[in-house]
Amino acid sequence: MPQHPVLYALLLGAVVCLVIALKILVRGALYKPRKKPKPLRLQVSARNNHGAADLFSFVVRRPWYARWRPLPRFSSGQSVSLALPGQKLKRRYSLARWHHSPRFYELGIRLENQGRFTPELYSHAQSGAWLDVEPPSGHFVLPSSPKPVAVMIAGGIGITPLLAMIDEWRNNRSDIECVHLYWQVRHTHEWIYEDELSRLAKSCPTLHVNYLASRPTSGIGQRLSVNDLLQNLDQTGYDRTKLGFYICAGNSLLDAVTQELENNGIASDAIHFERFGIHINSNATGSFELEIDNQKIQFDGHQNLLEALEDGDIAISSDCRTGTCGECRVHCISGQVEQLINPEFQCNANQFLACCVLPLSDLKISVI
Ligand SMILES: Cc1cc2nc3c(=O)[nH]c(=O)nc-3n(C[C@H](O)[C@H](O)[C@H](O)COP(=O)(O)OP(=O)(O)OC[C@H]3O[C@@H](n4cnc5c(N)ncnc54)[C@H](O)[C@@H]3O)c2cc1C
Ligand code: FES
Repeated sequence: MPQHPVLYALLLGAVVCLVIALKILVRGALYKPRKKPKPLRLQVSARNNHGAADLFSFVVRRPWYARWRPLPRFSSGQSVSLALPGQKLKRRYSLARWHHSPRFYELGIRLENQGRFTPELYSHAQSGAWLDVEPPSGHFVLPSSPKPVAVMIAGGIGITPLLAMIDEWRNNRSDIECVHLYWQVRHTHEWIYEDELSRLAKSCPTLHVNYLASRPTSGIGQRLSVNDLLQNLDQTGYDRTKLGFYICAGNSLLDAVTQELENNGIASDAIHFERFGIHINSNATGSFELEIDNQKIQFDGHQNLLEALEDGDIAISSDCRTGTCGECRVHCISGQVEQLINPEFQCNANQFLACCVLPLSDLKISVI
């Protein structure tokens, strides 16, 4: 045994280092990356129905005994997945407010009468009800080096992520000089955040809000024209290379606007957008047999392949339902499909995203 205390200390240090190294090695070998963070169980409050517009909004918070803890932080533009407690069906919703240390999440939602989730959510999400909320995520955010002029285009309820971006810009983003918001709706009662936006614009001279309604109760309908919008912005004296576009609207408005912006020479990396869903624009009809990992189910009048798999109780994960996350990837063994959109997520050969396709024949697939 060493006689000197320095030698004792060195020996002890070596043993401690050995134990730490062993721990790291064992952890590394056993480490399994967690696929998704656990949902938070949050409580609904401040529920509002916006009358004829079929729109409703509410906030969710931690239960009273845990309110001292802020909710997970997020970047404006990001969204959460909501599910009723104990249910598998979930949908994604953008957070309509931003705070650097959030105590609540605010949501603004359109009730789709024919939809699977929103009618249930509409009845369930009353003050005091519980919801399972997956922590915020998403790529539709203000970039770290933004263009100095932000041009935001919202169609209907597509205003939600843009409202949060305006919050973040006002409180935390001096790298954006001004914001021009264009909010296109059909009916004027869909402008559910009009009062607060107008109040904000009065107190903030660098925020310019333009309201457009295609079917107003009185007066002439107005539709967003990208040419007029660009000409108006030209008059403010900004070079077009200084403009960054943030668009969240229904598919037809979103696709038309992005196409026209590109036709007018706006670079695609200056155009950021979020899709809330995929609407079928296809003549493909028919009933087909789907064979998945030796199970057989029927595709019959579904909105996309993912819906048919869910109806057939096939275990398949999904999140965005808009071709962004890649979770619903399947491997195609035989058969043909039609692509409903050109998805952001790029699959390998012989793979496709179940949320983005319609079968054109019987299909044999396996879930990845
Ligand atoms: C990132 C992201 C953020 C989002 N943020 C918001 C938000 O802030 N607010 C918001 O309101 N929504 C938002 N959405 C959309 C939301 O996730 C849901 O898609 C939406 O609420 C509809 O859900 P649903 O289950 O009620 O409708 P679904 O059942 O998914 O149906 C979708 C559409 O298809 C139609 N449809 C369904 N079945 C049929 C049928 N058999 N025949 C004809 N039509 C049919 C429905 O009417 C509806 O228009 C977001 C989506 C994403 C991806
Ligand atoms: S569910 Fe996200 S890509 Fe299909």
